[in-house]
Amino acid sequence: MIRSVVRGFGTALPKRVVTNAELEKTVDTSDEWIVQRTGIRQRYIAGEGETTASLGEAAGRAALDKAGLTAADIDVIIVATSTPDNTFPATAVNIQNRLGMHHGFAFDVQAVCSGFVYAVTTADAYIRGGLARRVLVIGAETFSRILDWTDRTTCVLFGDGAGAIVLEAQEGAGTTADRGVLTAQLRSDGAHRDKLYVDGGPSTTGTVGHLRMEGREVFKHAVGMITDVIVSAFDATGFTADDVDWLVPHQANKRIIDGSAKKLGIPEEKVVITVDLHGNTSAASIPLALAAAAQDGRIKQGDVVLLEAMGGGFTWGAVLLRW
Ligand code: ACO
Repeated sequence: MIRSVVRGFGTALPKRVVTNAELEKTVDTSDEWIVQRTGIRQRYIAGEGETTASLGEAAGRAALDKAGLTAADIDVIIVATSTPDNTFPATAVNIQNRLGMHHGFAFDVQAVCSGFVYAVTTADAYIRGGLARRVLVIGAETFSRILDWTDRTTCVLFGDGAGAIVLEAQEGAGTTADRGVLTAQLRSDGAHRDKLYVDGGPSTTGTVGHLRMEGREVFKHAVGMITDVIVSAFDATGFTADDVDWLVPHQANKRIIDGSAKKLGIPEEKVVITVDLHGNTSAASIPLALAAAAQDGRIKQGDVVLLEAMGGGFTWGAVLLRW
């Protein structure tokens, strides 16, 4: 049975770090408020010349290097983003060109903060369906460019960055002892649109728009949705919380992460946290966190890793994989 195994990972962050103290100078907020409510201490903000495609390209190159591969070895590029360089062509095609890749195909998926989970699920389906042997999966965002910097309820929460993995087809026995993606579970419900959306777009206002969010409403739904979809992933594999070596959640808010882990019974020492360093980087947050924990040796070959995310739409999902 074919499995999609992680062969490499990489990240890219903008040069500029913006601390909470720096934000205090331009927004009516405080380091204490931000840390207490979210766990965020700093974020990276893209400067001139830094775009979703440039960050995604850099993360993609790093993942290829780590895998000992080049773009010539890749069949498909999937980019999860809600902040593309242009309405079209897709950022994935832009990155394909930047990597000097002129074969195969590339496309974007848009599921906001759940984008990386959606992209991994899509890549896994392509690999298991025999349409591709190696997929470069990238989560890349420049949310700073859709923030209303006069709205303190949203602008303190987000940051920019990119992360990538190479997924490769490998033969497995078809059991949960195999390396690779073991199950992927996706959900969405458009009835929640008004709780988290961007108030512009090519077909409505003709503008890019700004992110708008009812933070409390998002918070209220987050833990329940995340834990439900994780239980579906457990049901599909026969795993329980005790089998999880590492929970690598979407990094929106430390309180949502802690609440979900507690409800599932996953101890905090098994939870990878980078929200303090990166803020909420939407589709980039999971691969940024995954790479941090793999690079420093926490995640080891054979470990069971649980990815989960919830975001605008709402969209939500979970992927269980063996590293
Ligand atoms: N600094 C200081 N005060 C602030 C700030 C700020 N940056 N933002 C809001 N406040 C004030 C509010 O005005 C309010 O003041 P008031 O009581 O005088 O009216 C007070 O703080 C409390 O505001 P609430 O919105 O009730 O604060 P809450 O405790 O709910 O925390 C937060 C807000 C952090 C946004 C929280 O609701 C949350 O974490 N929600 C989830 C949001 C999220 O994570 N979204 C992303 C997930 S989906 C995705 O990743 C795209």
